[in-house]
Amino acid sequence: MSQAKKGLDGLSIGDSRLSLVNGTEGKLIYSGYKIEDLAAHALYEEVVYLLWEGKLPNATELEQLRAAIAENAGIPDEVLTLLKTFPKDANAMAVLRTAVSALAFYDPDSENYSLDALRRKAVRLTGQVTTISAAWMRIRKGQEPLAPRKDLNLSANFVYMITGAEPAATAVDAINAYMVLLTEHGMNASTFASRVTVSTGSDMHSAIVSAIGTLKGPAHGGANTEAMLQFMEIGEVENVDRWFNDNIKNGNRRIMGIGHRVYKALDPRAAVLRERSEALAKASGNMKWFLIADNLAKLARADQYFIERNLYPNVDYFSAIALYTLDIDVDMFTPLFAMSRMAGWTAHIIEQVESNRLIRPSVDYVGPLGLAWKPLEERE
Ligand code: ACO
Repeated sequence: MSQAKKGLDGLSIGDSRLSLVNGTEGKLIYSGYKIEDLAAHALYEEVVYLLWEGKLPNATELEQLRAAIAENAGIPDEVLTLLKTFPKDANAMAVLRTAVSALAFYDPDSENYSLDALRRKAVRLTGQVTTISAAWMRIRKGQEPLAPRKDLNLSANFVYMITGAEPAATAVDAINAYMVLLTEHGMNASTFASRVTVSTGSDMHSAIVSAIGTLKGPAHGGANTEAMLQFMEIGEVENVDRWFNDNIKNGNRRIMGIGHRVYKALDPRAAVLRERSEALAKASGNMKWFLIADNLAKLARADQYFIERNLYPNVDYFSAIALYTLDIDVDMFTPLFAMSRMAGWTAHIIEQVESNRLIRPSVDYVGPLGLAWKPLEERE
């Protein structure tokens, strides 16, 4: 019987100073600070600085980083032209993955592996992933993409680039809080993929491409889109009970946005996002989607199957309601997750390179042994 930990469950790949995920108590800390405090007070760029530099910035440092990200957030014309050639119904994460890969051709540091170059690329890519996401939302609707403004922070720039209007404070605040909550999360699958990639001596763009491809799956970041599609399938508040019985109790589906490898208590980000999404729904005058999600979560919390397995809403559950209420296209939810996670991914990539050892686990062979070679013509 193999002693392997299937899915590498609970295995540590080393030390990190970036975040502490306490799954038993449902706590999340970024470099010493509670996620609840950061979500309530911090600008996304403050959290980026915290992860990259290990401390909160003072006012000058924050403004320098905000300006650096905004000034480097533009994407080369060649990549914009490429985006315009993609099928309009292409998967949004596949678009982001391909565009980030193409950015490497035009990045002056793309094959420079020094720590200074990694930091420069982290600044550029953090802004560029937001610009690509916003550009794709417009291009596929036949609209011209907008260049990022140098005077705005990243969440305001995103809102500006998708709407073309002066960004509204409520939307900017909500996107900023969302981005702060999703910035970093220990050794999740996409971060692991990025660290595996740079551990071979490969470059930062390749590592981010690995991370985006990994985040795309519905067991990870893709769950936010799937959660919203599930709420839309339910359609009305009065359908929640029947849907739960037909599809979950008496079907073999999972509730998307519920369950987590590490959290066996409520994901603290889900608690903040539940409050935020409720407030946004109230302000929009449409409580339907929040109520569908909240009633379904309550049904699951009262159900023996979910209780026994410690299954609670994760970050993707209520963030789907928040983003939908903000009028973000449902398939763009996962690119928004990627935009937010850029600081975490790049911080981990730098941390990996700073004390690298090739990540190369093993596997227990359970196949046959000692078979005799048969020439092709003798095989059945
Ligand atoms: N609905 C119903 N049952 C579930 C759910 C769910 N959402 N999640 C897990 N379970 C059940 C499983 O069927 C399993 O039951 P069993 O022990 O009787 O076989 C048990 O709970 C444990 O599930 P695993 O799949 O072994 O747990 P794992 O840690 O491997 O998976 C995962 C975690 C992938 C997140 C899972 O909970 C899931 O599929 N959730 C839905 C998708 C989702 O929301 N993903 C986003 C995660 S957060 C993030 O990555 C940002």
